[in-house]
Amino acid sequence: MSEGERLTELAKRRGFYFPAAGAYGGAAGFWTYGPQGAALKSNVEDAWRDRFVLQEGHQEISAPDVMPEAVFEASGHLDGFDDMIIECGECGATHRADHIVEDNTDIEEAESLPNEDVMDIIADHDIACPSCNASLAGEPVDNFNLMFATNIGPGTSSPGYLRPETAQGIFVEFPQLSEYARNQLPFGVAQIGKAYRNEISPRKSLVRVREFTQAELEHFVDPEEDEPPLADVEDVTLPLYSGESQQAADGGVEQLTVGEAVDEGVVTSDWVAYYLGVARDWYERIGIDMDRFRFRQHLPGELAHYAADCWDAEAEIDGDWIEITGFAYRGDYDLQKHAEHSGEDYTVFKQYDEPVTVERPTVDPDMSYLGPEFGGDAQSVADALEALAERDPEAFEGEDVTVEVDGEAYTVPVEETDFSVETVTENGEHVRPHVVEPSFGVGRLIYTMLAHAYTEDEVDGEERTYLDLPPEQAPTTVGVFPLMDKDGMAEYAREIASALREAGHSVTYDDSGAIGRRYRRQDEIGTPYCVTVDYESVEEDTVTVRERDSTEQKRVSIDGLAETIARLTEGETTFDDL
Ligand code: GAP
Repeated sequence: MSEGERLTELAKRRGFYFPAAGAYGGAAGFWTYGPQGAALKSNVEDAWRDRFVLQEGHQEISAPDVMPEAVFEASGHLDGFDDMIIECGECGATHRADHIVEDNTDIEEAESLPNEDVMDIIADHDIACPSCNASLAGEPVDNFNLMFATNIGPGTSSPGYLRPETAQGIFVEFPQLSEYARNQLPFGVAQIGKAYRNEISPRKSLVRVREFTQAELEHFVDPEEDEPPLADVEDVTLPLYSGESQQAADGGVEQLTVGEAVDEGVVTSDWVAYYLGVARDWYERIGIDMDRFRFRQHLPGELAHYAADCWDAEAEIDGDWIEITGFAYRGDYDLQKHAEHSGEDYTVFKQYDEPVTVERPTVDPDMSYLGPEFGGDAQSVADALEALAERDPEAFEGEDVTVEVDGEAYTVPVEETDFSVETVTENGEHVRPHVVEPSFGVGRLIYTMLAHAYTEDEVDGEERTYLDLPPEQAPTTVGVFPLMDKDGMAEYAREIASALREAGHSVTYDDSGAIGRRYRRQDEIGTPYCVTVDYESVEEDTVTVRERDSTEQKRVSIDGLAETIARLTEGETTFDDL
């Protein structure tokens, strides 16, 4: 059984996650988180919020899942958020053409290739349809937009889309969010919420789904002035698989500290390097195995339409590398696009410490000359003259000046442009912030945590499976068991369970079956501690506490039990020190 298969089996049996709406045959790419999965998900989201929002001093918002078409026209998703699709002429099944190529050849990252090349590769390798085995050679490779479309209100006059990333809900509200940040850069806005993509071929349970949760941070910075607190993470070691290494015959992962990666120019953006450092330690905190983890740089053809540099955090499962987070330097692409399309101001006014006096070249072209001379192009020529004056005032030093409009050159006598240089006093300037974006997929984090936590060993000659999840993340913190349902043990155990719940612990009370079976049930969901009430408990106010990984047990007083469990889960004390 592969890691993925045994995980899916355990996830369903123990209530982590299972295919949604099974009673009606389900729909591929939709999963329901069961009680353990929902608790784990909420713990991961809390840990993310703690590190990427609270500790960084950022703000969190919650925007709608459905937004009007104009938002996605501006963001570029309507035109460009496509995957390559191929349809089998024999059985009609549709597949992701780049994945079919990757699965059947040595080619990696086939999505960076043009559609025609992918079609040729499918024909050259005579790749067969995964559903019916008929040849796909000669079938066209088309673009398929991944957004789910809907209508807002009755009728079709107001199209809307389920958001394909939570990020747009932040970008589109920038003018308002900037006010809340008192128009002071840098500031970060985070969001944890659903994203929807109509994936052509959902696969590997939570890895490629059609509805998933993202935890995204959009950090708005002044590209000229703001710098990240690199010193905080400069000694963190990053396993980096750079674009250069990927293209070299003998390239591999390099272990570099954040400081080295920046100094050697392996990671070009200091901000991206900062978040790689922060994230690397956070992944370890939530239990991702650092021996099965790397940061991989996007190859040039793979970069998203908005990204200037991008690194993915990837985790290994079943020999495959799965992208769990994207770290992108998005520049001012998003704010620029929303400004252009909405006509609103997507800048921040940066006040200077002292007013400054600057020389400002201006033109005021004589339209009574430009009109008759250039007809319908007169206004464009005037605009081009204005832009040239700002860019290159020296161009106005001769008798004539030439500008280009739509590839055609227009020459104008300088005296008709009314060129002059004014001296003006300015109190500040409008800055369009750049965006640094760490974007986490919560489902993929959970899938990786479970796969990496899955452990098999032998206890008392019996095989055992347990999840060695960090106590902070485990869906249940304590299992409370009465040894038997007699002599007051059950009542005593219920009281302990209540007291632990009141103290804020997540507790399962279990009195069914042999005690060994109860331990195994908790082991399989990763419960780090079990408390057992026996005869001695009732007489002496003590219980045994069992640690999941070592299966060792210690007898402790029930006085301060809740605090002891809290100190253990928070790593303030160890089981050995009890
Ligand atoms: N705002 C940037 C953005 O959305 P992305 O790389 O497309 O970037 C970010 O997505 C993260 O969302 C990925 O690293 C992955 O963890 C998760 N993700 C993307 N598509 C997914 C899918 N179909 N199923 C599950 N998770 C997905």
